[in-house]
Amino acid sequence: MSELPKLILATRNAHKTEEIRQILGNKFSITDVRSFPDLPEIEETGTTFVENARLKAMGISKHVPGWVLADDSGLEVDALGGAPGVWSSSFGGEEGNHAKNNARLDQEMAGKENRSARFRCTLFLAKDGREIGVFYGTVEGRIAAEASGEGGFGYDPHFIPDGYEIPLAELGSEVKNSLSHRAKAISALTEFLEDKDLEEF
Ligand code: IMP
Repeated sequence: MSELPKLILATRNAHKTEEIRQILGNKFSITDVRSFPDLPEIEETGTTFVENARLKAMGISKHVPGWVLADDSGLEVDALGGAPGVWSSSFGGEEGNHAKNNARLDQEMAGKENRSARFRCTLFLAKDGREIGVFYGTVEGRIAAEASGEGGFGYDPHFIPDGYEIPLAELGSEVKNSLSHRAKAISALTEFLEDKDLEEF
């Protein structure tokens, strides 16, 4: 069997890496920037998912040969005017602190009748410093009255996808990876790559 092409994820989020590996690991051999300590920290100064995904992918791709993929994602809550959106990872005041983010979400959603929300994922693919493509995925759902479950990461204990009665954190990784915003964006990516020769980019 020939070796899988290598793909570096422009993320330090071990949960994202694990999910992307579970879904895409049969097509690429996947690592992330935690394995390359000399790579720069990329500041997410954009105001949209695609801007931040591009910043991360191109910022890393300038420094390493081969395939680089960035994921920028977040939760949009209708009753909060689309917040936390691109600021999902620092909603609670501290970057990457999921407990604080969830506590703020609880606080802001107290007494709100409209619970509708969605996760969005934008994937940006680059190779050898060149932009290759952008891929999108969305999953619609609602914010649970009470958080529950230990699985997944981030807002998963709060988010009930359409068609279900319990949050992603309770549904488990197999269900999450069959319907999530990330899974859908990865599907679009694999569809794009399907009829292409990966050596020819
Ligand atoms: P990013 O690293 O700037 O893309 O921020 C992503 C943030 O969005 C995460 O820190 C989470 O708060 C949230 N998020 C994105 N995807 C998911 C998911 O699959 N489940 C739960 N929260 C997510």
